[in-house]
Amino acid sequence: MSNKTVTVIDNRTNQKYDFPILEPTMGADVVDISTFYQKTGMFTFDRGFTSTASCRSAITYIDGSKGKLMYRGYDISYLATKKTFLDTAYLLLNGELPSKERLEAYCKELKKRSFIHEGMKKLFDAFPDNAHPMAILSAGVSALSTFYFDHLDMDSPDEALEMANRIIAKIPTIAAFSYRYSQGLPVIYPDLNKGFVENFLYMLRGYPHHYIELKPIEIKALDTILTLHADHEQNASTTAVRVVASTRAHPYACISSGINALWGRAHGGANESVVRQLEMIGRVENVEKYIAKAKDPNDPFRLMGFGHRVYKNFDPRATILKNIQKELSEELNLDSELMAVAKKIEEIALNDEYFVSRKLYPNIDFYSGIILRALKIPKEMFAVIFVIGRTPGWISQWIELRNQDNIKIARPRQLYIGPKDRTPKE
Ligand code: CMC
Repeated sequence: MSNKTVTVIDNRTNQKYDFPILEPTMGADVVDISTFYQKTGMFTFDRGFTSTASCRSAITYIDGSKGKLMYRGYDISYLATKKTFLDTAYLLLNGELPSKERLEAYCKELKKRSFIHEGMKKLFDAFPDNAHPMAILSAGVSALSTFYFDHLDMDSPDEALEMANRIIAKIPTIAAFSYRYSQGLPVIYPDLNKGFVENFLYMLRGYPHHYIELKPIEIKALDTILTLHADHEQNASTTAVRVVASTRAHPYACISSGINALWGRAHGGANESVVRQLEMIGRVENVEKYIAKAKDPNDPFRLMGFGHRVYKNFDPRATILKNIQKELSEELNLDSELMAVAKKIEEIALNDEYFVSRKLYPNIDFYSGIILRALKIPKEMFAVIFVIGRTPGWISQWIELRNQDNIKIARPRQLYIGPKDRTPKE
């Protein structure tokens, strides 16, 4: 640890307080203010945690100003173009990329665990028609704790990895079942002869005893989307997972909380909103009108798929997906009117002073929504795809937190602005 400090001066009293500076391996230095209240009697205020590091982590690194994203020290473009989603999941969980043999064993292990308890089908039956698959998925993951309760309280690292494999393997099955039930379609069981991504598309789009032809580009596109979503440092859903984990809740409860946090349209729900918005705009001639709405401070309308809390230059995930989108549009018949609307929005926003000055660039969701639509994935499933991708990240963060000595329960304070004591004096 460095012996550098930051001095805070209270200009009401001229009292000085020193706080240690913690040095990361990469990125901004961090001021340790854990003794701030004890020393000064004041809290710090940071709405939306824009300047707050909430934990030490060795998993993911983001440099928002340079558009850089790394998992365990590997650049995202290397992982997305040279490795698969399962390589990436293994890397996040174990800290190292797998050898060929280890990857094969890992794929086998996930296939073996991809079936869910038959009793869980009663749960799916209980939901009304058209229930949103995200609601069913979060309930399904929570319900895993009632079927697989041997891992609720785990102590050994092996148990944690077994739990991780179980959740990663079963989430695509629960996700596909959620959709099939919500549409009144027959469920398709996992096929042990298919790879992770192919199997999910098969369970989602297939019919019993009917082989569906998948083009390699479709599998590659979805694999890339999952890889790009696999982790993203301390975003809202990961923070939700860590906050719940800090109470020592079991992993299913933590991951289910992550799913619910991710559902919001400012986070993982954005890709669904992007496509809904593109459909609403409908025609290239309407784009200008909606750009004007997005810029109007009195209009709550926002251009979905633009802006990011951390990336203030470009979103490296968006750049990779833009290339995949191009490859796909060459091989598949993409909706040309929707693509034209998206292209026009991108063109205007990238040159408009409002968006440029606020550093609002297309984010991953701007492209992923269009790609998922091309893969014939229903809009209600877009956030679910994000969940399948993000699960290895959430579990890696959960394991990292659980392996720390002296876990502290997450318990922020507040700036109270309610009434002063108005209890009648007796
Ligand atoms: N359209 C129009 N104006 C916008 C947009 C947008 N998409 N995003 C931000 N702004 C404006 C905002 O009105 C504000 O303007 P002003 O300074 O004049 O008040 C300024 O830009 C800063 O916005 P902010 O809300 O303070 O920024 P934030 O960092 O808190 O929010 C965000 C980041 C992603 C929630 C936001 O940009 C947004 O709502 N984007 C649309 C939703 C979206 O695409 N979400 C997916 C994010 S990527 C997936 C993920 O990692 O979860």
